[in-house]
Amino acid sequence: MKILIVGSGGREYAIALALKRDENVKNLYFAPGNGATDELGVNIDIKDFEKLAEFAKKESIDLTIVGPETPLVEGIADVFKKHNLTIFGVSKDAAKLEGSKAFMKDFLFRHNIPTAKYIQTSSVKKANDFIDTLIAPIVVKADGLCAGKGVIIAKSKDEAKDAAKSMLNGESFGNAGKNVVIEEFLDGFELSIFAICDGENYKILPAAQDHKRLLDNDEGPNTGGMGAYAPTPLANDDIYTQVEEFVVKPTLKGMKEEGASYTGVLFIGAMIVDKKVYVLEYNVRFGDPECEVLMPLLKTSASELFYKAATGRLNELDLKFKDEFAVGVVVASKDYPYKNSEPKIIDIDDKKSECSHVAYAGVCKKEGSMYANGGRVLVCVGTGKSIKAARDNAYDLTKKIFFEGAKFRNDIAYQALK
Ligand SMILES: Nc1ncnc2c1ncn2[C@@H]1O[C@H](COP(=O)(O)OP(=O)(O)O)[C@@H](O)[C@H]1O
Ligand SMILES: [Mg+2]
Repeated sequence: MKILIVGSGGREYAIALALKRDENVKNLYFAPGNGATDELGVNIDIKDFEKLAEFAKKESIDLTIVGPETPLVEGIADVFKKHNLTIFGVSKDAAKLEGSKAFMKDFLFRHNIPTAKYIQTSSVKKANDFIDTLIAPIVVKADGLCAGKGVIIAKSKDEAKDAAKSMLNGESFGNAGKNVVIEEFLDGFELSIFAICDGENYKILPAAQDHKRLLDNDEGPNTGGMGAYAPTPLANDDIYTQVEEFVVKPTLKGMKEEGASYTGVLFIGAMIVDKKVYVLEYNVRFGDPECEVLMPLLKTSASELFYKAATGRLNELDLKFKDEFAVGVVVASKDYPYKNSEPKIIDIDDKKSECSHVAYAGVCKKEGSMYANGGRVLVCVGTGKSIKAARDNAYDLTKKIFFEGAKFRNDIAYQALK
């Protein structure tokens, strides 16, 4: 098979590593890829979807896998399908589940899927009136894509009203905040649960936990994610059953009824309150760094999983996972997440090991050397028969990575090890 992966992060690198384990995967292409994916395949610098589809046809690409949300929201899957190409990733209509939080909340409401009580509005008055009915803390969310920065957990009604006002008048997030979702605060623990969907059928992956805050003990600002582990023992059979029956099944049925059949990754940001599952949000792609810990756990061939999902044949697949755990520790650059850092040369003592590897993200190559040129530079992934063993393997690998200003959290997977 020839496979094209759209994206440039650690997530796409991790998908590529999983595909590389398959004997039937012959060639990998990345659009645009990063300074390490060129060692796994060929980086292609084509941004326009029509031109990329032409390239896929010319090269006889068998399957395209889309990593990030932006091209999905912009309709890459629709363009590829128009050209009769096989693509794993949701259509533009289905991507609205991530592209608009107001659309997503209304969808959950229409289909009776458990979620926090809310309103969505573009009126300051309506926002304020609803805030007055809630008890602080109160959650205020910008409707559109904000790269993980569009959610304010306000400690008082006044703070919530201020946040809503500055979103609605375009100050905080431009057009993405011209509509807001105001919702009640749910007090529980969070899980990242992924379903691979083919429009009708689905396969649930082991539940993961992300670590959004920059610093140990969940302190400091929010980031794109500083680490993850899976499977988490915090998700029991009852939680998986609730997710299937009350979330995934009604979502696939609802999307089909509404003319936006769901073929792709459904990322359920779940909050568990008193053992009950609530949907905080949907994403229409893998989480990053969750993908980096899920891919190494796959026992089933990754190309078969994604190809069957893209072609509506997941019912033929018996998806299997290794009886192991994986922990991923994100190594970030000095000024992340505040501002871009100067590129720094990376020195890695990366001897191949059975139970750890690097997933490269914000890296580029200059004159044969690899440089850290992004916020989240790479992920040290460890696997093992226990979470502790996997974590030790991941942290052992961090000791072999050197670049100026490198930083990471020291407590990834603490929730499972307390
Ligand atoms: N209703 C809620 N109650 C409690 N915490 C929430 C609620 N909604 C969001 N959060 C917190 O804010 C984070 C970001 O919100 P989310 O809806 O996932 O938006 P995004 O990932 O697009 O920034 C969540 O991971 C969660 O920690
Ligand atoms: Mg989220």
